[in-house]
Amino acid sequence: MKKINRRKFLILSYSSAIATLIAQCSIVKTQENRHFFSSYPQINQSQDGILEIDLTANFNQINLGNKQAYLLSYNRQIPGPRLEAKPGDTIRINFTNNLPQPTNIHYHGLHIPITGNADNVFLNIPPGDRFTYQFQIPENHPAGMFWYHPHLHGLVAEQLFGGLAGLFIVRGELDEIPEVKAASERFLVLQDFALDQQGNMLPSQELSIMTGREGNLITANGQFNPNFTIPAQGLLRLRILNASSSRFYRLSLEEHPFYLIATDGGALAEPVEMSELLLTPGERADVLIQANREPGKYRLLNLPYERVGMGMMGRGMMGRNFPESQPQVLATVSYDTQVAAVLLPTKLVPVTALPEPQKVRRFQMNHGMIPGQGMAFLFNGQPYQPERIDTQVQLNTVEDWELINTGMMDHPFHVHGNAFQVLSRNGKLEPYRAWKDVVLVRPGETVLIRMPLRDFAGKTVYHCHILDHEDLGMMGNLEIKP
Ligand code: C2O
Ligand code: CU
Ligand code: CU
Repeated sequence: MKKINRRKFLILSYSSAIATLIAQCSIVKTQENRHFFSSYPQINQSQDGILEIDLTANFNQINLGNKQAYLLSYNRQIPGPRLEAKPGDTIRINFTNNLPQPTNIHYHGLHIPITGNADNVFLNIPPGDRFTYQFQIPENHPAGMFWYHPHLHGLVAEQLFGGLAGLFIVRGELDEIPEVKAASERFLVLQDFALDQQGNMLPSQELSIMTGREGNLITANGQFNPNFTIPAQGLLRLRILNASSSRFYRLSLEEHPFYLIATDGGALAEPVEMSELLLTPGERADVLIQANREPGKYRLLNLPYERVGMGMMGRGMMGRNFPESQPQVLATVSYDTQVAAVLLPTKLVPVTALPEPQKVRRFQMNHGMIPGQGMAFLFNGQPYQPERIDTQVQLNTVEDWELINTGMMDHPFHVHGNAFQVLSRNGKLEPYRAWKDVVLVRPGETVLIRMPLRDFAGKTVYHCHILDHEDLGMMGNLEIKP
């Protein structure tokens, strides 16, 4: 597989690299102005039922906070443009691949067709090619925070770790709840990077691929420790995405609890108070924060978390400062001029219970040695095979999947196309109902999920969202039969 080599790429496209540098001076300016208001790069909202955007994947110099870096980006922004649409809207994405390797786009969490020019992860868009993605957001699609990123098997970890990820927001019922509407809304896209002194991405041999690559530069919206203001006595609505390829975030805001109002697939029935929040790769959380403490500055912290069993490998094998033993500051929240107190909502959007399943299946997650290939990550003892259908399900049925981790590392399980509800962990019932598309399965744990297979037939995948594990085989093909 062709890996990205900056020097070679720059020689090949010397003139375009110069053009890029010139163009970037002006882009950086407008971006800074936008940050002042939104803390997020470019925003594209649908108009009159249509969202059309030109999206280009690039590999070039970019400003990452105060650092110059050579990274992968959509439209020269990290994170990529934030797309916003409503149920019923038509989406058209005119995509150009300016990377030196093939790619494609997956619309993580959106309930749209999994075939053709919609959420089709089997497309291969070669370097220099264009492709138009077009689909409709169903009329009954829940409001929520979704995202887009590359999904070409074997290159997923590398391309996400290079910076390719952007938000896809669907507006709807949750946004119209008066207290939610009154809150100041901020987005937080968490990404980590590993760069050398010159700002080049560290080659994968220098990263801990087996455990899942992590970088020691952590950014929020492509910045280091950005500041969010919140009116004193007001509400902050923080919508957080873990867009890292392997890193987990265990979040806590000094002196402020989080009130969780939505998970991956949309709203909860009522807010759930929590003092900290664990977000594994691919997961999203929508939380309200009440500014009812002493006016001042509060740090959003990433607390240490160990996702690899110590029995598995010695610390020496885990690469640079992993796991971190000290909390890191991801962002700062500071109080602004006081407003009239905004209360928390009491009711959000009902989350209906699913009917009994037609079928129960079992998925065992582990790793093992494949002769002549080395370590592989497996579902039910097998590494991914593009031609093999691993799981065949019937459209318009409900299934229970039992996810069993018999290994020694955490695996966040993810499935495309339909959201699910977690029923229990090791037999213990989940405390509240929520729509999810990623769920953490810890070593020794059995997690039971229930999933309706609705609307769209075709072939798609499920996998571990530690994307190195996915690239190393922990993925299966799912066929939804009409
Ligand atoms: Cu965000 Cu198949 O993944
Ligand atoms: Cu996905
Ligand atoms: Cu995994």
